[in-house]
Amino acid sequence: MFVKRGNCMLNKVLSKFYKIPYLVPYWDTNETGILKNCFFENSLVEGSHSEKLVKMLNNKTNLYSYPTNLGRSAIQLALGQIPKDGRKEVLISSFNCSGVVQPIVQAGYIPVFIDVGIDFNISIDGIRNNYTSNTIAVIVPGLFGKSPHWKEIKTFCKEKNIFVIDDAAQYLGLDGAGTNGDFGIFSFALGKPVESIYGGVLLSKKKYSFELKNKTYANVLSDSMAALFRGKYRKYTLPYFAIKDGLKRKLLKNSFSFDVFNIPNVSSGITIEQFKKLDKMVKLRQRNAKILLDGLSNIDELTLPEFSKDHAFLKFVVSLKKAKQSKAPNRSTDLIKFVNALASKGIETEWVYLPLHLREPYTNYRTTDLTVTNNIWKCSVSLPNRPGLSEENMIDIATHIKKSVIK
Ligand SMILES: Cc1ncc(COP(=O)(O)O)c(C=O)c1O
Repeated sequence: MFVKRGNCMLNKVLSKFYKIPYLVPYWDTNETGILKNCFFENSLVEGSHSEKLVKMLNNKTNLYSYPTNLGRSAIQLALGQIPKDGRKEVLISSFNCSGVVQPIVQAGYIPVFIDVGIDFNISIDGIRNNYTSNTIAVIVPGLFGKSPHWKEIKTFCKEKNIFVIDDAAQYLGLDGAGTNGDFGIFSFALGKPVESIYGGVLLSKKKYSFELKNKTYANVLSDSMAALFRGKYRKYTLPYFAIKDGLKRKLLKNSFSFDVFNIPNVSSGITIEQFKKLDKMVKLRQRNAKILLDGLSNIDELTLPEFSKDHAFLKFVVSLKKAKQSKAPNRSTDLIKFVNALASKGIETEWVYLPLHLREPYTNYRTTDLTVTNNIWKCSVSLPNRPGLSEENMIDIATHIKKSVIK
């Protein structure tokens, strides 16, 4: 009785932090069961799941698949297969994850930062206007779950003999994701359409033989525990991880370098389970997005994403119109107030990317006209719409925004 009451108190105190945390993987006992079995059967690193994953991905994509530890490792492997012909530059959007730029550098190429369109996807005009005889490849992400402008991109890149990497890390779940370029990649990190401990895959029409090293048992074990506690039990562990990450940022220099490894067996097992639910998860995200769109549509102060079947709504990004005019070099104070007001109601949001051309160590690479990028990151934020949130949660978020955030 005493223990029960104590637990209940602890629950209350801890869960006060966020009522609606932003990032919680859509895992049930199937995923946690894989974790448990791999642990007790001593197959966290090696086992039969990885072979099954390759078969499943080959079947689904009709391509050869090469699983890795990370999506960025898959990008590095892809770039490494492009025949060297003296061209050095790889085009990418600056409004992007750091996991896309580092593999370019590590593969020995030079990133060139180009702009995005208003849907946050890489702009075809940006590609056209900034292509030079030194351009060898372009990496095309379907940012936030929105399918890229494939028709125009494919036609242009074919005409100019530019290699295309279809970066489906964020729009996996939509038809053809990962199959549109010379290479495709997925990421299976937390926060992606398929969430495992981590993982990635390179997709290609060609057969290669890569000899990738395994991560150590100790690494995989601690990463598995971190994914479980940071992700699945985020509601309770967020204060601890917030302090830990804050201290890490203060004390250690930020390093984006990484090593290419094999995918651990436990990640493969969880990835397979997640693929079984992928269609359902996309539908739930789209349903949640629709509820937000309905609830927020008459709020003039917000720019909302457009609903379409080409949008898997991995992230639901809104922009504050009044913050758009801000000339400040940082995130607008109106946006910070908006985020804090939601946090005070227990709703966690996620900042959008600080553009890559503004981040060390990437500030010295060639940039082009980045008007949209330079504007949107200061006035935009992602609202929670992950598949585990209920219709009531979504109505709650919209109501709080309407009632107390936008006055
Ligand atoms: C669009 C995009 N591409 C690639 C990556 C790299 O994936 P990973 O984190 O698995 O290396 C990420 C994110 O992390 C991403 O958002």
